[in-house]
Amino acid sequence: MWDYGPLGVLLKKNIKDEWWKSNVELRTDVVGIDAAIMMNPIVWEKSGHLAEFSDFLVQCKVCKGRFRMDALNVEKYYDEKTKILKMPEKYDIDCPKGGHKFEFGSISEDDVKGLGIKPMKFNLLIPAFLGVLEDRQTKIYLRGEITQGAFVNFENVVSSTRVKIPFGIAQIGKAFRNEITPGNFTYRSLEFEQMEVEYFIKPEDSEGDKWFEYWKKQRMDWYISLGMDKDKLRFRKHAKDERAHYAKFAEDIEYKAPFGWSEFEGIHHRGDWDLSRHGLSYVDEEGNKFTPWVIESSGGVDRSALFFLLDAYHEEEKRVILKLHPKLAPYKVAVFPLLANKENLVSKARSIYQDLRKNMMVAWDDRGNIGKRYFAQDEIGTPFCITVDFQTLEDDTVTVRDRDTAKQDRIAIGKLNEYLQDKLK
Ligand code: GAP
Repeated sequence: MWDYGPLGVLLKKNIKDEWWKSNVELRTDVVGIDAAIMMNPIVWEKSGHLAEFSDFLVQCKVCKGRFRMDALNVEKYYDEKTKILKMPEKYDIDCPKGGHKFEFGSISEDDVKGLGIKPMKFNLLIPAFLGVLEDRQTKIYLRGEITQGAFVNFENVVSSTRVKIPFGIAQIGKAFRNEITPGNFTYRSLEFEQMEVEYFIKPEDSEGDKWFEYWKKQRMDWYISLGMDKDKLRFRKHAKDERAHYAKFAEDIEYKAPFGWSEFEGIHHRGDWDLSRHGLSYVDEEGNKFTPWVIESSGGVDRSALFFLLDAYHEEEKRVILKLHPKLAPYKVAVFPLLANKENLVSKARSIYQDLRKNMMVAWDDRGNIGKRYFAQDEIGTPFCITVDFQTLEDDTVTVRDRDTAKQDRIAIGKLNEYLQDKLK
């Protein structure tokens, strides 16, 4: 589990705001909801998560480390029917922990009986217990995906809004998973945030293909529009055996991270899996009743934040710059009085700072020399720095320095808001 500090929370908020704008505010066919984290356990039974939402666990005899079976690429030796992993007599696998070869150790009784290796099935849902009387508590689950909230609210949305198929339900919120191998910073954690659109369409192959391709493009374009390097992005199709239990077909958007190509958003064709399991249907204007299909785009807020950060990080000879898109940068601008001990400079700078804060996040810094203050802002991605100097006192102009080019413009204070709004677009 990770906590985000004052800058991290702003970065995540900006990602979520941009996502919401693009997927809800600028569209006429998508509405938003905010469903509960704690849901009736029947939802998870119907959705198939209680039976199917599992990883397989294997143990290394040498280091006693436990890993997901798919981390070793040995799924082809796994027999679905007997649930047994029959490895060839000789195999050569590096242990994910590093420094030695992997040797299968025993974590289940069946291994001991000599049947082969029986990977332990491990459900990812995290249970919680509700009720004030300890001996009469009800077991529930923290939601393993935010998605089910969109399905259990499907009828409420249809009956209370003017949506007509095709339409979408959008949501951003926390999800929880009992991951066996959390790691790579925030990349795989137990508590994380998702941003999803469940898009309901007519149950026809041509519609499914069309909307699947549409959402793939839509979502890839969104990351590129916010500055992610095109060459570090790609789609990857899921093979049949890696698809989630609900998916007819699926493709991931992956980023070329320092730890390898890594998925951070999935476009899933969920067919009628969910609505039919929940017993829901739709009646169109002609009175035809059917179970819509669902095309889902499911992105991770934390993984996006991590990859936007990695993508923006640049080192130059004298400085580190976070070249975040201005829309994502935690602070849009910083204001400095040239000298902290000159009251007239400080009060002028303070009034600019207070004025700009009405429209955007503004940082204030009056410590040390100006060069150091610039570098500190470059490092946290602030696109512009404004300095109030002695000329300001004479002609009401300030210098505005650009993070990426380090060039400075002299701008009249009265025109600052307009100048910045234009540049930040
Ligand atoms: N509703 C579909 C669904 O949940 P998923 O591929 O399991 O699909 C979607 O998850 C996204 O949620 C992932 O692409 C990723 O960005 C994020 N995510 C999933 N598990 C995560 C974890 N353990 N830590 C951080 N983010 C995670």
